[in-house]
Amino acid sequence: MSNQDRVALITGAGRGIGAGIAIKLGALGHPVVVADVIEEREATAAAIRDAGGEARAIPLDVADDAAVAALPILLGAWWDRLGILVNNAGISPKGPDGKARKIRDMPAEEWRRVLAVNLTGAFLVSQACIPPLRARRWGRIIMLTSQAARAKSQIAGAHYAAAKTGLMGFARSLATELGPDGITVNSIAPGRIDTPMSRGTTAAANAAFLAQVPVGRVGTPEDVAEVAAFLASDAAAYLNGAAIDVGGGSFMP
Ligand SMILES: NC(=O)c1ccc[n+]([C@@H]2O[C@H](COP(=O)([O-])OP(=O)(O)OC[C@H]3O[C@@H](n4cnc5c(N)ncnc54)[C@H](O)[C@@H]3O)[C@@H](O)[C@H]2O)c1
Repeated sequence: MSNQDRVALITGAGRGIGAGIAIKLGALGHPVVVADVIEEREATAAAIRDAGGEARAIPLDVADDAAVAALPILLGAWWDRLGILVNNAGISPKGPDGKARKIRDMPAEEWRRVLAVNLTGAFLVSQACIPPLRARRWGRIIMLTSQAARAKSQIAGAHYAAAKTGLMGFARSLATELGPDGITVNSIAPGRIDTPMSRGTTAAANAAFLAQVPVGRVGTPEDVAEVAAFLASDAAAYLNGAAIDVGGGSFMP
């Protein structure tokens, strides 16, 4: 199978890391589905097409059961050629001062929304994608977790840390279940990557984080996209249930 026969669905690909992964996979010849709640999804798809690739933008809220259930109809022939799913959509709400809310101040509604998008959304989309991947006996599922799932975080909220840690556990279960079908599931745990999400944190918190990065810089969406492209390739066939830290050495287990 060539990359052209392996459609890549990337959630939250309108901007940031997801857009970087979409553009990279598009450049490698994969037809790309740019799924997002924001209008910028159209710009990401246009950038892929302008570079000579194939891409479609679709509106998708990963936490919306009905919208996820409609994916096969929406994507038609592309759905049957699905090869790669990147569960990238995520939110990290902060308090009005740009800092993570204390648990004692956290509205239950905010907790539920973060779990719904960052964890349940990945479950819903992954579950929906199992039939086309199993039918072809080849697939790659990649989770965007976080360093906040690997160690304590002074930037992310408790809901975010809980959801991302849960996502890593879900990835291991999925990797175990789908391995026999030729489908691998791996997690990328980024450190600090320069995107609209990380820019929503205070400058002081980002500077303190940078001081802990041995390679001496904040990461880029392209840094993450290179790792995602490897995980999505045949070269990563024997990598399953792994978590790869992409943080310039800011976290070393
Ligand atoms: N930037 C970092 O430093 C960093 C570090 C660790 C992990 N991550 C993770 O990487 C992923 C991408 O983060 P980013 O920094 O690019 O953030 P971002 O906010 O720049 O982009 C996230 C994208 O997800 C989309 N999204 C949000 N809710 C959605 C929903 N319900 N359905 C579909 N799309 C939705 C947003 O519209 C946005 O386009 C996230 O899962 C994030 O938690 C980011």
